[in-house]
Amino acid sequence: MSRLLRSSTAIALAGVLAVSMINADAKDRRECDRDYKPQVGQSGKDVVWVPTPDEIVQRMLRMAKVTPQDLVYDLGAGDGKIAIAAGKIGATSVGIEYNPDMAKLAQCYVQAEELAGKTRIIQGDVFKEDFSKATVVTMYLLPELNLRLRPTILNMKPGTRVTSHQFTMGDWEPDETAEVDYRTAYLWIVPAKVDGTWTLREQGSSNAYTVNLTQKYQKVSGDVATGSAKQPLVGATVRGEEVRFAFNDDKGVTRTMTGTVRGNELTGTLKGAGGTETKVTGSRK
Ligand SMILES: C[S@@+](CC[C@H](N)C(=O)[O-])C[C@H]1O[C@@H](n2cnc3c(N)ncnc32)[C@H](O)[C@@H]1O
Repeated sequence: MSRLLRSSTAIALAGVLAVSMINADAKDRRECDRDYKPQVGQSGKDVVWVPTPDEIVQRMLRMAKVTPQDLVYDLGAGDGKIAIAAGKIGATSVGIEYNPDMAKLAQCYVQAEELAGKTRIIQGDVFKEDFSKATVVTMYLLPELNLRLRPTILNMKPGTRVTSHQFTMGDWEPDETAEVDYRTAYLWIVPAKVDGTWTLREQGSSNAYTVNLTQKYQKVSGDVATGSAKQPLVGATVRGEEVRFAFNDDKGVTRTMTGTVRGNELTGTLKGAGGTETKVTGSRK
C-alpha cells in the first residue's frame, strides 16, 4: 500500500469513527420517550406542565424576530420545545426547567434533534438561574410568576424581547399582541431607563433644551424648556434604546427628536421645519 493510500485510509477511518461517535450520542425521540413519559397537567415547582402548541411557539419566535444572532432563554422549559424551535432557527437557546426528569427528557430531545451545539437545557429554578444575557426571553408560566420575574426582566439590556404565551405582565402593557387559535401571545421590548432631566445640545448652534421625562415602562410624558417657555412633549415613547418625542420650540416650529439612550447619554437627531435635521447630544443630570 503506498503511503498516500495508507494515509487516505486512515483519514477515512477517522471520519467513520467520528460519525459513529456522533451517532452514538444522537438519540431518536422515541428512545427519549422510553425513559420518561410526562403527563400534561403534571405538577411543577411553581406551575404545572402544559406545552405551548407549535403554532403559538412559531408565532412567539416570529414576534420576537428571533435570528441566529440571538440568545433565547425559555423560562420553565418543559419538554424543551421552545428552546428547540429557537435552536432550529439557528439561535443559541437555553431552557431552564426545574423538574429533573423533564429537564433530562428535554435534553434528550435536544440531542435527538442534533441541536446539542446550539441548544441546552439547564435543570434549575427560573428565580435562581441567571438569564441576564438573553436577548430574547420566552415564557408560558402564570400571571403572578410573570410579575415576580418582571423586575429582573426590566433590568435586562434595553431592547431585550420578551414573549409570553397567554399571560400578561400586570400594568406593563405589551408592545404587541397576537391571537392564534383563541390563544394569545404577547411581546414586550425592555425599555431603556429614560426617567429624569436631560440637557440636549444641538450641534452647530447654541440651542440647548432641558427635557424632563417621566416614564412608566415604554410610555413617557414630560416637557421641554426652550428659552423661557416650557412646552409639553407630544407622542413620547421609548422602544428598547430608542426614544422619540416632539415639541414646539420657542419659534412655534414643531421639532421631532429621535435618539438612542445609553445609560446617561443620549444621541440622536432633531427634525425641524422643512425636514431639516440636526444632530443632538445630551446627558442626564
Ligand atoms: C406551562 S409549562 C411550559 C413549558 C414550555 N415552556 C412550553 O411553553 O411548552 C411550565 C413549565 O415550567 C416548569 N416550572 C415550574 N416552576 C418552575 C421554576 N420555578 N423553575 C423552572 N421551571 C419551572 C414546569 O415544570 C413546567 O414544565
